[in-house]
Amino acid sequence: MLNSDLARELATQYGTPLWVMDAEVVRARVAQLQGFDTIRFAQKANPNTHVLGLLCGLGVKVDAVSRGEVLRAQHAGFSLGGAQGSMAEAVGAELVYTADLLDRETLDLVCERALVVNCGSLDMLQQLGERSPGHAVWLRINPGFGHGHSRKTNTGGEGSKHGIWHGQLPQALDLLRALGLRLVGLHMHIGSGVDYEHLARVTRAMLDAVTTVRQAGLDLHALSAGGGLSVPYRPEDPSVDTAHYFSLWDAARKQAEVILGHGLALEIEPGRFLVAEAGSLLAEVRVRKQQGDLSYLLIDAGFNDLVRPAMYGAHHAMRLITRTPRELGPTQEVIVAGPLCESGDVFTQDAAGELRPQTLPQADVGDWIEIERTGAYGSAMSSNYNTRPLAAEVLVDGADCRLIRRRQAVEDLLALESGL
Ligand code: LLP
Repeated sequence: MLNSDLARELATQYGTPLWVMDAEVVRARVAQLQGFDTIRFAQKANPNTHVLGLLCGLGVKVDAVSRGEVLRAQHAGFSLGGAQGSMAEAVGAELVYTADLLDRETLDLVCERALVVNCGSLDMLQQLGERSPGHAVWLRINPGFGHGHSRKTNTGGEGSKHGIWHGQLPQALDLLRALGLRLVGLHMHIGSGVDYEHLARVTRAMLDAVTTVRQAGLDLHALSAGGGLSVPYRPEDPSVDTAHYFSLWDAARKQAEVILGHGLALEIEPGRFLVAEAGSLLAEVRVRKQQGDLSYLLIDAGFNDLVRPAMYGAHHAMRLITRTPRELGPTQEVIVAGPLCESGDVFTQDAAGELRPQTLPQADVGDWIEIERTGAYGSAMSSNYNTRPLAAEVLVDGADCRLIRRRQAVEDLLALESGL
C-alpha cells in the first residue's frame, strides 16, 4: 500500500495509469528466501530491467522463457553462459532458460551463448542435443498432478502442457545419454502456495525422480523447487511460511543426497512472491455512474494494463486516494471498470465473470484508485488493446523515486507499421 501523499505526488508528476514498485518490499522478500542456495527470479512476473537490476544486485539469479527475456536479463547485468564449461559453472549459471520448446531463433541463441536450458519436452532435448553436444541441461518434470489458482495457471497433471511427463523420465534420460547432454538437475514447478501437504507430495515425487536418475546410472547436481509461492491478495489469505517451505525442501534435498551419495544445490524460482506485494497500479477516477442498482467507477486503466481480474477473476484490493486530503465520506459497494470498449473490462469480477463489487469511500472525479499487489503479472501482461499505450513505471526506493519506464506514445506503435 502506498503512502497517500506519495501516491498523489507520483500520479500528478507522471500521470496515470502508473505502475509503482517499492524496492524495499522486494528486498524484504529476497531476505525471506536466503536459506536456499539460489533464488532464481522468474522474470515473467516483472521483467522491467530496473527491477531485474535491483535483484541482480541482491545476488538473485534469473530465469528466462523467451529470447527477449534473455536479452533483457543480459541488459540488466546478468551474465550468460555456463552450459559448455565445468559442471560447477553450469550449476552456478546466472541465467537458466526454461521452456517446453525452442523456436529456431532461440535455439540459435541458446547454442551460441551456451545458455543452460531447463527442458520440458523430449523433442526439445533432441533438437538441443543434435545441435550442441555436451550442453548442460535441467529436466523439468511434470509429476502427474498440479496446483494453481485457476485452470489457466495449473502447472502439472495431464491437463498441463508443461514438463516431461514423469513416466517418460527414463526415456528422457536415455535420450540425454545418447546425445551426450549433461544433467545439471531436476526441476518441478508445481506451486503449492501455502498447501504444505501438497508440497510434501511434490517433494516425494521429486525423490522418486531422483531415484529414477540414479537407477539409470546417471547423476545430478541440483534440485529446483520451481516457483508458485503464493501471496496474500485478500486480508484473510495466509502468508507463506517461508521457513517451513524451505525446511520441507531441505529435508527432500538431504534425502536426495543420501540416494546420490553427494551434496546437492537447492534452488527456488519464484516470480510473484518477490514482486507482487511491491507493486501498485494508480488510476484516475474519470466517471461515476449508476446503472440501475449498481454503482460504477470508471478509471483510466483497463485490462490492457492489468488483465488478471478479466483473465482469471483475480482479486486485487483497491484503495481510494483523494485528489487533496479530505475527510472520507461513507463507503459504498462499487464496481470498478476501465475505459476499453469491451464489457469484460472490469476489475471487480470473479472467474465466472460475475460482478464482485468492492467497498470504497465515495469518490469524486479526479480522485485516484490504487489497485494493490499488482507488482507480479501486472505490467508484465499489459497489451496495446484499443491502441492504448503501455503505462509508465516508477521505482520508489526510500526517499528516491525514479521513472523506470516512460509512458509509451501512440507514435511508438505507429512506427511499427510504417510505410503507409
Ligand atoms: N517457474 C516456472 C517454470 C513457471 O512457469 C512460473 C510461472 C514460475 C516459475 C513463477 O511462478 P510464480 O512464483 O510467479 O507463481 N499469469 C499468472 C501466473 C502464470 C505463472 C506462469 N508460470 C498470474 O497472473 O497469476
